[in-house]
Amino acid sequence: MSDKNDKNDKNDKNEKLHVLEDEKALLIDHSYDGIHELNHPLPSWWMWTWSATILYSIFYFIFYHMVGGPNLTQEFEKDMIRLNEIKAIAAADVSNFDIEHYNTWKKTNDSLKIGKEVYEENCISCHAEAGGGDIGPNLTDAYWINVKERTATALFPVIRDGVEDNGMPAWGEIISKEEMYAAMAYIVSLKGTTPPEAKEAQGEKVEEF
Ligand code: HEC
Repeated sequence: MSDKNDKNDKNDKNEKLHVLEDEKALLIDHSYDGIHELNHPLPSWWMWTWSATILYSIFYFIFYHMVGGPNLTQEFEKDMIRLNEIKAIAAADVSNFDIEHYNTWKKTNDSLKIGKEVYEENCISCHAEAGGGDIGPNLTDAYWINVKERTATALFPVIRDGVEDNGMPAWGEIISKEEMYAAMAYIVSLKGTTPPEAKEAQGEKVEEF
């Protein structure tokens, strides 16, 4: 901008006001505490967005306040019903033990490796390294408190439901069915092993199987 224009600006409006030549037309004719305003048009994207929200609010108002769209409580209740259905399906899945399904799972997965991981993540704190037993009983010996045989079928309900009065959690509510399968496969595989610091036998001796 040239000096000449600069001077003109000052003369036109106010001694201290500095307005670009091409913005003069936008200057609004008022000032508050010496502050002037330029009347720039709003960007069109802003206008479109604003109009869209107004349009949306009309439909929103009609749907939720006039023709009986669901309120928050009703939506919450609907979601809870759905959640309970999902939970019921999951619980039904966990509650049945199907030996065929277990065997297929074992064949198609590296069950002992996964089992060791599941065991070390969830069980080792009470049953100790390699099933030697600590707070929970020794899982390698022939003596058992809650199971009559060291088979997946016999272990499953104990692991799923736990023995909560005696400190064994119900794992059916915590880990997946496949993780329980893996833990079972691992425990079955511990038969006859002798971990270094094994806990003394607890429960009844079960027949060899
Ligand atoms: C918070 C401690 C704790 C954790 C963690 C724990 N258990 Fe146990 N578990 C116990 C106790 C205590 C018992 C003995 C229950 C009784 O006396 O009836 C037990 C018993 C068992 C039994 C039956 C043993 C028997 O002699 O009848 C099995 C099988 C078993 N647990 C598997 C597992 C598996 C698998 C996990 C991990 C997914 C696990 N436990 C995690 C504490 C635990």
